[in-house]
Amino acid sequence: MSEQTAGQDIETLFLEQRRYPPPPEFAKQANAQPDIHTKKLDEFWREEGEKRVSWFSPFDQVYEWEPPYAKWFLGGKLNVCYNCVDRHVEAGRGDKVAFYWEGEPEEERRTLSFADLQAEVVRFANGLKKLGVEKGTPVAIYMGMVPELPVAMLACARLGAPHTVIFGGFSADSLSDRVNDMECEVLVTQNEGWRRGNRVPLKKTSDEAMDRSPSVKQCVVYRRTDGEVDMRDGRDLWWDQLLEDVSDDPDSCPCQEMDSEDLLYLLYTSGTTAKPKGIVHTTGGYLTGVATTHHYVFDVKPDSVYWCAADIGWVTGHSYIVYGPLCNGTTGVVYEGTPDFPDKDRWWAIVERYKVDILYTAPTAIRSHMKWGPEYAKKHDLSSLRVLGTVGEPINPEAWVWYHENIGRGRCPVVDTWWQTETGMIMITPLPGITTLKPGSATKPFPTVDAAVFNEKGESVPPGGGGYLVIREPWPAMLRGIHKDHERYVKTYWSKYPNVYFVGDGARVDEDGDFWLLGRIDDVMNVSGHRISTIEVESALVDHPRVAEAAVCGRADKTTGQAIVAYVTLKGGDEGSPEMLRELRIHVGQRIGKFAAPANIVFTPELPKTRSGKIMRRLLRDVAENRELGDTTTLADSAVVEELAKRGREEAKTEE
Ligand code: WTA
Repeated sequence: MSEQTAGQDIETLFLEQRRYPPPPEFAKQANAQPDIHTKKLDEFWREEGEKRVSWFSPFDQVYEWEPPYAKWFLGGKLNVCYNCVDRHVEAGRGDKVAFYWEGEPEEERRTLSFADLQAEVVRFANGLKKLGVEKGTPVAIYMGMVPELPVAMLACARLGAPHTVIFGGFSADSLSDRVNDMECEVLVTQNEGWRRGNRVPLKKTSDEAMDRSPSVKQCVVYRRTDGEVDMRDGRDLWWDQLLEDVSDDPDSCPCQEMDSEDLLYLLYTSGTTAKPKGIVHTTGGYLTGVATTHHYVFDVKPDSVYWCAADIGWVTGHSYIVYGPLCNGTTGVVYEGTPDFPDKDRWWAIVERYKVDILYTAPTAIRSHMKWGPEYAKKHDLSSLRVLGTVGEPINPEAWVWYHENIGRGRCPVVDTWWQTETGMIMITPLPGITTLKPGSATKPFPTVDAAVFNEKGESVPPGGGGYLVIREPWPAMLRGIHKDHERYVKTYWSKYPNVYFVGDGARVDEDGDFWLLGRIDDVMNVSGHRISTIEVESALVDHPRVAEAAVCGRADKTTGQAIVAYVTLKGGDEGSPEMLRELRIHVGQRIGKFAAPANIVFTPELPKTRSGKIMRRLLRDVAENRELGDTTTLADSAVVEELAKRGREEAKTEE
């Protein structure tokens, strides 16, 4: 392909041919039936809004769209905690399990029924009330994966106090930035958490953050370990101390009536460089959006045991561990620790123990399991699994097929769900039982979601071509802005095309109308005038039987504009060799074309990733061009990229 196809702004090169039509037995019993696609925006969401959510007063208008702001379920009054907890108990399902929780130390397990959850939430809400928290008081939550984290979120929702959850791996600076931006008055944390057998000093980090966050008047500390921490008089209080004399009677703390458009939470998302954005999510539309998508996309049944293995600190955990599943009254699994503790089969032991039927995770985790090898999964009975999901990054077809075969044993539909913190809910996804699956494609927009691929000029790119993903109609869980920053909201999402939501991802649509996500637009490479997406070259690399994981980026090149540099992790900890390097270049050349073969390949045991597991190509570009490294504060482990930078500098020296 020497010239750009007319009207397309990113070339598409890698054609995946495998197809997985829905098994007929699955299709028959599926929550989503083909008529789901026949309903109009208004009608679909009116029905779902009435069906999935209990309203204190019904809404009188489905939505109002005054770009760039939408409102949903106008006039409706409800409470999210009531929907997620109380109504299930009132309906006689108090004994149903809400969460199976497993601590990282293996002997620690807890089972919380919906009645238990209600008692915990009511007690904590009563505790927060004692601290002066009421409707509108901003609360920050900085915890690990303990049941008290959803309890704290739901207690806030019960009182109408908006929360922001800060992922427990963030530093003191990141924590205080977020707390300051929201002007939080209370911080809920724990003394320590567990991660891969190590103690995470959450309270100590909170102390450092609070030194720079004067708005915080009170700090509640849940005691997770026996570790000692400093407690400042008048500010810090132990969780159990606060709850000593409070009631767990739901009538002692009724669910606050909220307007459909009242703030439920802010969740901060860092762009690639600038200051994190406080993404605004409100009440009625968000809850309806996450409950509806959870029901159809995962084919959740009344007796399902559903496990989303994300961290609650990310949007995936907000929408698909806490709010969506609990609104649907689903039994969930929450696991505190890492997948390789004490050994690499920990996840599969959990699936076997609780007979998990739906598992939702990220490509980065799947690639880790792939790297470790399928023998860990083989040790366990995974026959309870019915549906598998992925989210967070484009998934390489080989990783998809590995997941389908080794975890799903070839039986379970894999739903590759595309969405963002900003969208609040799943937007492009297969519907199991309806959709023919294609490894690497998120397939079709969820019913009523009006997604398209545009070129620079704002024209739809014809089938097969690549361009910018956009969404043209509002959806119920969409962000309602960036906290305190209207201008940035407009500039980031609404300025490239008039009244159209600009996603920031590249995508292509194929002849069947299926979407293929091509990664963040900032990562696109330009080699000899070809605009090439990172995912396609990476997928060609991962397609090689020895490769577990790969990340590519462009570095400046005198002749070709940019040249591709690949960072590759081999399976089973192999180190790589000049022969392997040659073999991989030939492999990519055969899969895509010689022009896309990486100019350099660097073998590395790990890739630099954000704390939510996304590959950070921006830093790889710095490494590839021997520049000073940019901001590394959002990395899970900065040693990985520092080591790569060091090797890069040494090689540059030897070349001189
Ligand atoms: C990427 C996570 C391809 C994408 C819910 C998006 C994906 C960003 C997929 C949002 C997917 C998420 N296929 N890319 N299935 N899911 N992404 O805000 O680049 O953490 O814009 O939300 O992740 O990440 P966020």
